[in-house]
Amino acid sequence: MDSAPLGFFDSGVGGLTVVRAVQELLPAENILYLGDTARLPYGSKSPETIRQFADEDARFLIERGVKAIVVACNTATAHALPGLREKYRLPILGVIEAGVESALANPDAERIGIIATRGTVRSHAYQHALALRRTGLIIHARETPLLVPLIEEDWIEHPATEIVLRSYLDPLVQRGIDTLLLACTHYPLLIPALRKLLPDGVRLVDSATTCAEHLRHELASLDLLAAAADVGKLEVHLTDLSEEFETLARRFLKRAPGRIHRAVLP
Ligand code: DGL
Repeated sequence: MDSAPLGFFDSGVGGLTVVRAVQELLPAENILYLGDTARLPYGSKSPETIRQFADEDARFLIERGVKAIVVACNTATAHALPGLREKYRLPILGVIEAGVESALANPDAERIGIIATRGTVRSHAYQHALALRRTGLIIHARETPLLVPLIEEDWIEHPATEIVLRSYLDPLVQRGIDTLLLACTHYPLLIPALRKLLPDGVRLVDSATTCAEHLRHELASLDLLAAAADVGKLEVHLTDLSEEFETLARRFLKRAPGRIHRAVLP
């Protein structure tokens, strides 16, 4: 048993979708969340820059005594997770492994679509992880850079979002995908819009719920779970504070995040 906080970081507030899923599954855990809002987006930046930012994000959390880190950002997981794991001794989880395992939990999955930021798609992290676990898969990955701004504008139901989604998804649907990996922590908010546009048989796999389940399993096996009787607290730190980020944080978390602190990175 360990009541030290779990550390989460993301480029912004999108990683709060993962926090929300973790709070539902593991309500006893204390959570320290860092959103690097001053330097987002990560999705369009070079691998070297993302690795440097991710290292600073991880150090911020480690200095505050977290017992494990969740990289709640697909782009940072894609580029920085191996380096962080090599450098630091505490358990560090990303969002990719869990998503890939969940996609392949269906033995009939054969044609996998992936939507993600440019950085995630170009890293080939998902494509490699899928191909390593199952041969013969047909994988179609699409860079979908317009989706994060549309979600942040709360244009989920807007006709413009439908047009953008159709032009991103039609080629995947034409290729007969049976599974769509939502490989960005913002995308769980799009699930209702995606369900309307995709054929019924397509299974959606998101980073939030899959990561929460993976985390529970890892913490249990390392004997790091908080005592079940505890009620966990959430502390949110952002490198840039604004009213917009507070509003967004509430939408991603589906409740008020409490007082948000301004983070100064090491
Ligand atoms: N959090 C990023 C991800 O999951 C999306 C936002 C960004 O590009 O910074 O890939």
